[in-house]
Amino acid sequence: MEMHPHISTIVLTEDEIQARVRELGEQISRDYGEEPVLLVAVLRGAAIFVADLARAVTAPVELDFMAVSSYGSSTKSSGVVRILKDLDENIEGRNVLVCEDILDTGLTLKYLLKNLASRKPKTLEVVALLNKKDKQRVPISCKYTGFDIPDEFVVGYGLDYAERYRNLPYVGILKPEIYAD
Ligand code: PRP
Repeated sequence: MEMHPHISTIVLTEDEIQARVRELGEQISRDYGEEPVLLVAVLRGAAIFVADLARAVTAPVELDFMAVSSYGSSTKSSGVVRILKDLDENIEGRNVLVCEDILDTGLTLKYLLKNLASRKPKTLEVVALLNKKDKQRVPISCKYTGFDIPDEFVVGYGLDYAERYRNLPYVGILKPEIYAD
């Protein structure tokens, strides 16, 4: 596939992503076996990842979604997260696997995990496709990680800039001239 004209560098190719998602699916399938697992995707970025991941897992899978918003950019640092759409499912006593596209500061997940843990799931784990290791400010126990990536702004495979580029099948870096000033 040709590179989008707004992208300067491809960080992860479509093939690399697809191969890793398959591996994650196999690992998750081994770990859960015949036990049902509820994949909880955090909208909107993780929608693309969870769609591929769910099809790579052979354990019985159920899907649910949450939407959260941090109160503007200052909130990311305060870690205050607002739930815009809660789960439809009751997770008490169930195996819950939170699916994230990217782990950046970790603040979103820290809040979410605390919130979900209070609902008494049987197990609560995290799978993140991308992990900005140098950036993480709060320690998150993430059982499954796709790739550790450098602390650069990336788009594609669910990740957006101003809601665009989520549909790129690869992860790449935007050309600087594309950013609005
Ligand atoms: C991204 C990503 C995570 C969060 C990670 O979502 O999907 O939810 O940021 O950042 P953190 O580790 O610093 O908390 P975003 O708020 O961009 O929303 P989106 O998924 O709708 O693009």
